Amino acid sequence: MYTNEKMLESIKKVEANRAANAVMEPVRMTAEEKEQVLATYHPDYIKSEFEVLQIGPNKGEKVPKELAAILQANSRINPADIDLSKVDYDVDVLVIGGGGAGTSAAIEADNNGAKVMIVTKLRMGDANTMMAEGGIQAADKPNDSPAIHYVDAFGGGHFAAKPELLYRLVNEAPDAIQWLNDLGVEFDKMPDGTMVTTHGGGTSRKRMHAAKDYSGAEIMRTLRDEVLNRNIPVVDFTAAIELILDENGKAAGAVLMNMETKELLIAKAKTVVIATGGAGRMHYQGFPTSNHYGATADGLVLGYRAGARLLYADTLQYHPTGAAYPSQIFGALVTEKVRSLGAKLVNVNGEVFMHPLETRDVCASSVIRECRRGNGVPTEQGEGIWLDTPMIELKNGEGTIEKRIPAMMRMFGKYGIDIRKEPILIYPTLHYQNGGLDITADGMTTNIENLYVAGEAVGGIHGRNRLMGNSLLDIIVFGRNAGTNASSKSKDVEVGALTLSHVDNFAKEMAEAGIETDVVSPKLLPNYTNQKAI
Ligand code: FUM
Repeated sequence: MYTNEKMLESIKKVEANRAANAVMEPVRMTAEEKEQVLATYHPDYIKSEFEVLQIGPNKGEKVPKELAAILQANSRINPADIDLSKVDYDVDVLVIGGGGAGTSAAIEADNNGAKVMIVTKLRMGDANTMMAEGGIQAADKPNDSPAIHYVDAFGGGHFAAKPELLYRLVNEAPDAIQWLNDLGVEFDKMPDGTMVTTHGGGTSRKRMHAAKDYSGAEIMRTLRDEVLNRNIPVVDFTAAIELILDENGKAAGAVLMNMETKELLIAKAKTVVIATGGAGRMHYQGFPTSNHYGATADGLVLGYRAGARLLYADTLQYHPTGAAYPSQIFGALVTEKVRSLGAKLVNVNGEVFMHPLETRDVCASSVIRECRRGNGVPTEQGEGIWLDTPMIELKNGEGTIEKRIPAMMRMFGKYGIDIRKEPILIYPTLHYQNGGLDITADGMTTNIENLYVAGEAVGGIHGRNRLMGNSLLDIIVFGRNAGTNASSKSKDVEVGALTLSHVDNFAKEMAEAGIETDVVSPKLLPNYTNQKAI
């Protein structure tokens, strides 16, 4: 319910223009206009928010200050205190992370006959996958093709995606949808069984498959059930806090920490899959986030300290439409599907100022620019722009909102805002880590043998910006890929003597570079209490 005078005054202007705004077709920006708005308003371009790494495989490259602080930080362990001969778990494939990528990897490793185990610092399914709303892309309609999908994603990512990764993503997408469908995901379908598909920002074809606006929760529910039905062991509330290598420098397990008791455990493995997800809870540049509680870039820290290279760790995705009001849901995701269904972005004066389906980085930057121009609506946290949701029913008919985006209706309804009748306020929110660990097309890191990565911890699949729906896709495609390849590889692996010497070496490098810090990492959980991390 809106009670603020300024908001109510502005809503009158939005309502007065609604019918005209709903039918007008905003012009698309030129390439030059996009470059300009990005360079001037996108948070990735604010030089003072980045720091150059002084040590490690990416020495000399810039990353967000907050990430630099945890990459160049102290280990949670002293290797001298760890007895690596006392092995608590001995498996073929150790999967670190219990989200969509980790569970997909575990299912395929199990399919391939491997002894696989998932370890997760929270519970299986406490992951960004669960929070995903709008859908999953796949070119499986007659008017579409993986080649067209590739062109959309390559352009949207500023031509920076690793071609072999993007090639795999788009080509294996139709099979990923089929796999999920066969496992039991309840995708939205027409009465004849055809999948309902919509546009996302930057897509030239309607290829977004969805389960209403809780697509991620539906996918995660299905994957979780599959893991449980197969009796794949899951060690929950247990974090990986350091990778273990063998004497030949190959990945060979992880030091685990029980989150409650702080007991340390040793997991030995022939291959390791990092599937630890994203970094929204790092709150880069003070942004709120759409991410789940555990999104603290752990995989990047584990990999980096062991010597794995990062790719594009300086690029983050700010989703254009985080909730800006009310405060209780500040930063929560307002799915892009709201815009796909016809809602436009409208400023304080009731004017449409951009095409609602520009790619995410361009859209977020334009929202920030509109606010800086003095055309935002003041809120407790700053300002916001209207997303005129009642337009959806003007365009598609009554009942569309309840049918297609019921979770959005419920989220705002809790605070007395009926999105069928009233617009909502949005502002960019930290949503996705475009960069991550550098892998080859088979999912293994480019420089540590037997170390695989899947999901948001990977860098390079999407380049420097990701299109909507390509993340739910990559967790499935690259999760399955990592599970299959890590399990096949494990059949030929002879693990050498276990070592944590890389942890000592990293500490030495820090000392030599004069880095003194009391930060310990991985961070594991955000700290909202201003107390020291556990
Ligand atoms: O807007 C959304 O529903 C988000 C989707 C995504 O990040 O892929």
